[in-house]
Amino acid sequence: MLRYHTLVLIKPSAVQRGLCGVIIHRYEQAGLELVGIKLDQFPSEVFADLYREHEGRDYYQHLVEQMSSGKICAIVLAGPKGTVEKVRALNGATNPVEAVPGSIRGDYAVSMRPDNIVHASDSEASALREIAIFFPELTIN
Ligand code: PPS
Repeated sequence: MLRYHTLVLIKPSAVQRGLCGVIIHRYEQAGLELVGIKLDQFPSEVFADLYREHEGRDYYQHLVEQMSSGKICAIVLAGPKGTVEKVRALNGATNPVEAVPGSIRGDYAVSMRPDNIVHASDSEASALREIAIFFPELTIN
């Protein structure tokens, strides 16, 4: 059966708060498979590339600086068709104020600042591009 992959970045504030375990547990509970994991701090150039579509937006500089300010936990998840959408549904609305209780952002964040605790790829094409940035050694097929 075909498997689909997506990238999640657990952001610096969540790593500092010790939330990696509970966040990863949410994805595993939902039936997704953890196929890659990396805890590290990455330079701002990496995030400038990741968020290149948003260059010029008023939040861009903050986003790049916040993501490079400390360690993140990058994970690759695999599952059936719809995995990208399922992960974004588990994360909840981008703005934690709007994220419903029960979603990851709804349960663990209240504001976009310092960050909204998780990033997830927004399409299968983005997932392939983003996984290659953080896991160049991983073969996805
Ligand atoms: S999304 O989830 O991609 O549809 O959201 P979008 O609104 O297009 O936002 C793209 C990324 O920019 C982040 N963002 C912000 N960061 C800080 N402050 C403000 N005001 C802000 N607005 C948007 C948003 O969280 C998305 O990044 P990720 O890492 O995917 O959450």
